[in-house]
Amino acid sequence: MDNEFLTQLQCPHCDASLTAAADSAELRCRSCDRTFPLNDGIPRFVEEQHLASFGLQWNKYEVAHDDEDRATFQAKTGLRLDELAGLRVLDAGCGGGRYCKVAGEAGANVVGADHTGAVNKASRLCAHLPNVEFVQADLKHLPLEPASFDFVFSIGVMHHDADTRAVFDAVARLVKPGGRFSVWLYRRNQWWQEMVNNLLRHRTTRMPPERLERYCRFGGWLGSLPVIGKTLNKVVNFSNHPNRENRICDTFDWYAPQYQYHHTVVELSGWFDEAGYEDLVVLPPEKTGRFYRWVYERSLLIGSGVNVLGRKRKE
Ligand SMILES: C[S@@+](CC[C@H](N)C(=O)[O-])C[C@H]1O[C@@H](n2cnc3c(N)ncnc32)[C@H](O)[C@@H]1O
Ligand SMILES: [Zn+2]
Repeated sequence: MDNEFLTQLQCPHCDASLTAAADSAELRCRSCDRTFPLNDGIPRFVEEQHLASFGLQWNKYEVAHDDEDRATFQAKTGLRLDELAGLRVLDAGCGGGRYCKVAGEAGANVVGADHTGAVNKASRLCAHLPNVEFVQADLKHLPLEPASFDFVFSIGVMHHDADTRAVFDAVARLVKPGGRFSVWLYRRNQWWQEMVNNLLRHRTTRMPPERLERYCRFGGWLGSLPVIGKTLNKVVNFSNHPNRENRICDTFDWYAPQYQYHHTVVELSGWFDEAGYEDLVVLPPEKTGRFYRWVYERSLLIGSGVNVLGRKRKE
């Protein structure tokens, strides 16, 4: 962590500035005197708690693929890579850091924030980028100044908190007036898909991770089958990503987290509006193809998203 980044941090409890101890093992609040560990150069403001499965999966699986991640970043944020140079950017819920890497390589000054030890993996993935920094923190209480980012994005994150809206509102406050904000959340599917999913997740979220991973390896195999891989997963979710490691990781990502809420475009657009955003764009899914669009438009595609980009009003 460099000194300039330290000056950008603030105490998540009282907003006062922080100072580094002489041995660089912790940060201390200048006002309330709370301390925060600094491990492997990453300031830690929380422990993993209910999101621990993400710390496990992002540190274990190698799922970053440069070309795919650049394409997904642009599709799910609505920004082109050539718009990013020099911007101050926050990746809210960075996981293993694949999109911090994309934004950092495009020349943005990036802060990646995640509740879990996934930031360890993210920091290793971005070790060649001095313009990318990480914090382990809760998005509802980030140690960062409000209205200080040109662009904030959050891909597949907020629905994993007990209160999606509370995370949205807290993160929305970090964008500068005139700055942009994109959010991707899970889409609400048909009632029968939601019911099957809730029943399954009721079991899987209580399993020890090793046992669940065995099922996810089976799901990953199903996802590799030509017809089943594209049809059965409309009833029971598993990933059909072309890469086996991504399929296992994506399937675990679906069944392990304690919270997983599904939302609608109307709901998400309303949150943007109430948080003071305008020029809203509902972003289309990345994948094309007639069958894909047909099932997507009918909310039949499990694991697909609702995705909105907005600009914060300049009072
Ligand atoms: C599905 S992963 C997505 C990671 C990354 N955006 C990507 O697409 O590769 C969701 C991440 O959000 C993080 N997360 C969820 N709720 C959070 C919260 N309240 N504060 C911080 N991180 C949170 C989880 O720890 C997890 O790593
Ligand atoms: Zn404090």
